[in-house]
Amino acid sequence: MDIKSRNIYTVTTTLAFIILIACPIASRGAKWTYSGPDGEPNWRTNYPYCGGTFQSPIDIQTQLLRYDPQLSPIQVQNYNLSANEQLTLHNNGHSVKISLPSHMYISSLPNRYSAAQLHFHWGSSSLLTGSEHTVNGKQFAAEMHVVHFNSDKFPNISMAVDKKDGLAVLGVLIEIGEFNPCFDKFLKYIEGIKYKDQKIQVPAFNVRELLPDTLNEYYRYDGSLTTPPCFPSVLWTVFRKPVTISHEQFLALATSLYASSAEDSAPVPLYGNYRMPQQTDNRVVLVSFRDGLHGIFSVSSPFERRQVVQKLLAGDLADLADEGLYQLLPKPQPGLNSKLKTTKRWGLHNQANKVHVRKNLPRHGYKDLCFKTLENDVLHQIQRHNANAQMVEALRDVVFPELNLRSYLDCKSELDLQTIRQLVQGRSTDEAAELEQSLTKAMRRQMRRHRHPNPKAITGHPRATFLKDFSLSSANHKPQHVEWED
Ligand SMILES: *[C@@H]1O[C@H](CO)[C@@H](O)[C@H](O)[C@H]1NC(C)=O
Ligand SMILES: *[C@@H]1O[C@H](CO)[C@@H](O)[C@H](O)[C@H]1NC(C)=O
Ligand SMILES: [Zn+2]
Repeated sequence: MDIKSRNIYTVTTTLAFIILIACPIASRGAKWTYSGPDGEPNWRTNYPYCGGTFQSPIDIQTQLLRYDPQLSPIQVQNYNLSANEQLTLHNNGHSVKISLPSHMYISSLPNRYSAAQLHFHWGSSSLLTGSEHTVNGKQFAAEMHVVHFNSDKFPNISMAVDKKDGLAVLGVLIEIGEFNPCFDKFLKYIEGIKYKDQKIQVPAFNVRELLPDTLNEYYRYDGSLTTPPCFPSVLWTVFRKPVTISHEQFLALATSLYASSAEDSAPVPLYGNYRMPQQTDNRVVLVSFRDGLHGIFSVSSPFERRQVVQKLLAGDLADLADEGLYQLLPKPQPGLNSKLKTTKRWGLHNQANKVHVRKNLPRHGYKDLCFKTLENDVLHQIQRHNANAQMVEALRDVVFPELNLRSYLDCKSELDLQTIRQLVQGRSTDEAAELEQSLTKAMRRQMRRHRHPNPKAITGHPRATFLKDFSLSSANHKPQHVEWED
């Protein structure tokens, strides 16, 4: 993608634990850096999620975008902090981090997400590009992340960081231009935290002014921490409009800090602390705006998506066509689905679908990652390791269609043909009674399956890291049912 020039450095510290940028919890004690032997390509060795799916950042390409009219402007509360309040400015060796009080929060998401900290990623004095997210390949000078955790569900960020609906991060792209007075509120103290592990208290300020003027245009997708342990727990909001800082301000950020501690005899400058764009894994990126995007596909409403699925369950494709609902099914786009050559696989198994339905579920709070590529990646992984065929079949037949469906219902991915066919196959066309019947059938099948190697067994498979990880981060989230609101 882009060529990065980074200094090669080694961290000589022998600290048992490192402080992670996006999560202040003790890790397994493995150090990581942005270059050298502990650099990005090797993060996965000690942090398996970093080699997993749904990673961030990504290159936000126009072809991934889907307009979602339901995405309302981001609203933040209590961002205007009083100067009487103190914030901790901290050089953690990977970034400059500012602690934030949890009375700051995002109020426009289904749950309250309370602030924890903000930090930056940046380029170098010679290479003014260091944002993590890129837009159609364009990398910006720097990027700010305001990290929030789901305080409706978790008491603190440590508990939230590895949960699927644990975090929400506001990403702000930063370009070089006009002087930004708000950035000077902390940049003027940056000399006080030159070295790793140094912290100082600074007067609080209006954090809202670090964000773009308007918060109504943004990109939204499901992703991960961009630093180890790379948990796929982040609901990302990246604002479309960048903010500016002056060249001098950029240089203050890019040249003041060291990734090494004060005692270290070989100081290591801290710059180029950004991760490369990750695979999009068939995720879609929802956008809250349509201006300037030509012919962009809009996502259907949740109601319409549920209708599509219900019609599919009833096997009533003709009806779908009549009502034009068929149009709602996604069309493959060049590049987007190129990885998905599933026709061959389709010939291999021909069983009736094993989806069943549960009703009366909570109306809000469902957030699922894009499972479509979980399928591709996990299948690839276990096939490579010669996992037994029964296990592969069980996954294919039971788990993935359900995950894909849920993903579609939440519009995290497109409903792929394989899932559609799986739903339609083996169903006679008609109505609710029919649905009930197959429900019963599916449950019987489910019970029979318990006597055979069942998909759960794979979580114990040492090589099936994706699923293992998946189950780790979502104890209550191993769907045995297709679930939706009625
Ligand atoms: C922020 O709060 C201060 C008082 O602490 C107030 O003077 C100022 O007008 C506020 N700014 C905004 C934009 O509300
Ligand atoms: C977070 O909450 C958990 C559960 O209440 C608690 O055990 C833990 O000590 C808390 N961690 C921090 C850093 O406050
Ligand atoms: Zn970050």
